[in-house]
Amino acid sequence: MSRQASAAALAAQKPYTDLFDLTDEAEMGHIELSRAADLVVVAPATANLMAKMAGGHADDLASTLLMATDKPVLIAPAMNVRMWEHPATKRNLAQLLADGIRTVGPNDGGMACGEFGPGRMAEPDEIIHAIAAQFGQGALTGRHILITSGPTHEPIDPVRYIANRSSGAQGAAMAMACRDLGATVTFITGPATVPPPHGVDVIKVETAAQMAQAVTEALPADAAIFAAAVADWRVDQSAAQKIKKTADGAPPALSFVENPDILAKVAQMKAGRPALVVGFAAETENLVDHARAKLARKGCDWIVANDVSPETCIMGGAHNAVTLVTKDGADAWPRLSKHETATRLAARLAEALERG
Ligand code: CTP
Repeated sequence: MSRQASAAALAAQKPYTDLFDLTDEAEMGHIELSRAADLVVVAPATANLMAKMAGGHADDLASTLLMATDKPVLIAPAMNVRMWEHPATKRNLAQLLADGIRTVGPNDGGMACGEFGPGRMAEPDEIIHAIAAQFGQGALTGRHILITSGPTHEPIDPVRYIANRSSGAQGAAMAMACRDLGATVTFITGPATVPPPHGVDVIKVETAAQMAQAVTEALPADAAIFAAAVADWRVDQSAAQKIKKTADGAPPALSFVENPDILAKVAQMKAGRPALVVGFAAETENLVDHARAKLARKGCDWIVANDVSPETCIMGGAHNAVTLVTKDGADAWPRLSKHETATRLAARLAEALERG
């Protein structure tokens, strides 16, 4: 049986394969085909098809349909582990995520080529769950998740500010993962370099004080995830005009005051506290000890701890190696992409909310 006949038999539908097949085009043109469904699912999404999508190519029926569609697109990547980890595929994935494409998988596991690692297509039931989430039946459907992300900028004067190296990548990935499980996401972000995802409510702020205010206004929520790298201090009195150099060369004396601890404030709310409050801890030494201390001090339920020493390339990079610290213990996860880390975390979050 030809591949086309097998597909037709399995789907009990006519498969379309050619961009300009006269018979097919008379029945349903490729533009119409791209609009007929509520969701376009690409399974498997090969490295080549992802590259074509990221580059906007339209040289066959599949890529043309994906360019022409006005419907959401869900891809289930599947490829050899080296191809999945290739910088070109990483670039293409980042572009597709920024374009609002949703993903499911890939998983770790054995592959058709005999190698082992990430790149194996998500299982059919995972793909079905991801499809269901698009139609309001996901594990986080009906939940409101609040996420803070990115750095904050604390002004010194109208042109200068204090900042940090956070790119906002992990927070954006968390927002996508919760969205893809059907949650309503409020995404409160400082001036991050990674753009906010599509399909979430974005609130842009600059300073820690503005972030604290936006969080208060966005509550109540079922869960709150504090992925922002909030500046701990701000300049007490930022200057109204640009600070000028003085004739004697003396540098300006800046005095600092502590910013509100947004996570601690929410975690310790007497009424209306989200059922699950999750903090991130960026540490450069004694990761688990510091994370445990932070969990207790701030009163949150989970701390996602990561080592941001420069040699880990985590801050500003695409990967993360986190340890999930809860009241029950510390669970060290393998080095994963920030996207994969977020997918796992969102699934754990959904389970925890379900358990109540
Ligand atoms: N956080 C916050 N508001 C602040 C400071 C931190 O909401 N003003 C949140 C962060 O979003 C993160 C967690 O608290 O989820 C931990 O942030 P981190 O900077 O690691 O901790 P600090 O409170 O700054 O503690 P330390 O200076 O001891 O590392």
